[in-house]
Amino acid sequence: MTVKAAAPSNIALVKYMGKDDAKVNQASNPSVSMTLTSLRSVAQVDWVKGSQPTWNPEPPLPGLEVPDLSPKGRERILAHAVRCAKELPGLLLKHGLKNEQPSGHHAEIRIGNSFPAGVGIASSASSFAALTLAMGRAMGGSDFSSLWTGSGLLKQDLARLSKLGSGSSCRSMQGPWIHWDGETIETLPSKIGPVVDHVLVVDREPKAVGSSQAHERVRTSPLWSGRPERALQRCFLVKEALAVGNWAELCRHVWQEAWEMHSLFHTATPPFSYWKPQSVAVLNALEPLVNSSKPPLVTMDAGPNVHVLVPEADAPEWAQRLRDLFPSVELLSDRCGEGAHVL
Ligand code: PMV
Repeated sequence: MTVKAAAPSNIALVKYMGKDDAKVNQASNPSVSMTLTSLRSVAQVDWVKGSQPTWNPEPPLPGLEVPDLSPKGRERILAHAVRCAKELPGLLLKHGLKNEQPSGHHAEIRIGNSFPAGVGIASSASSFAALTLAMGRAMGGSDFSSLWTGSGLLKQDLARLSKLGSGSSCRSMQGPWIHWDGETIETLPSKIGPVVDHVLVVDREPKAVGSSQAHERVRTSPLWSGRPERALQRCFLVKEALAVGNWAELCRHVWQEAWEMHSLFHTATPPFSYWKPQSVAVLNALEPLVNSSKPPLVTMDAGPNVHVLVPEADAPEWAQRLRDLFPSVELLSDRCGEGAHVL
């Protein structure tokens, strides 16, 4: 039997950066994100005879890119499949579903991304969320799908499980606005309408410092002191701006947050930076706009590319504006969405 699930990536407004317990991806502070739609991963699970989950990159899933995983990356995916196989029977039972994994069989896993590597989209978030959901569907049987559509509690349980594989993946299960605080991963009320994320792809080179290392290194920065408290306070302000629909306020908090996270990188021991000359040029050009009366929401992940989020109604106009301002920079766009689903 073959099952497939898809999960989009997400972009953090208040960042998860720094862990209190790396073994279980316990974040040092809560975070807030927006879930995307078509920048996503698809995971396929087939039951095959054997004792351990296996990764099968061939043939690629139609129309999707096979992630170019390092041996360590592949190990992480397989370790997560083992974790899912262990944890899901109890979790499914809680929701009234039996474990339907055929005995003597294990999961053969295929993953494909709708976007290429290095474009500033977190593929670990989307791929771990997609894999967790595909494992849930494979083990939960055909009743799983209808339960998934209707049950926020099942989504939260699977998000917690996904978090153990990749922290930020827990925010990709639902959407569009997500708050992750410890073991609570929930959608946020918002008066802000649909939003489009225009990603300015400044550079596609693989990152010199991966996010796991970044999570460790930020704690050596003198700016780390007080960071969890500041992030907590910013989450509060961002949630408030979403709830009342104050776009301009939201943009200013998110802009400051991006600078703060990158300042942690720039002041770590040893310091490191994701910024390329073009990233700085883009930030400088956008700065007056962020402080205007109709601002874009500008943020960056742990990478050189710049995310420019704008209300959907203004998205075509903004795309043109960004192309005019940065004619040599590739532009990738996606809209906010509702999270992972079974295919
Ligand atoms: O989930 P991880 O370990 O890849 O960490 C994600 C870190 C950032 O993307 C930089 C911030 C975030 O909250 O998504």
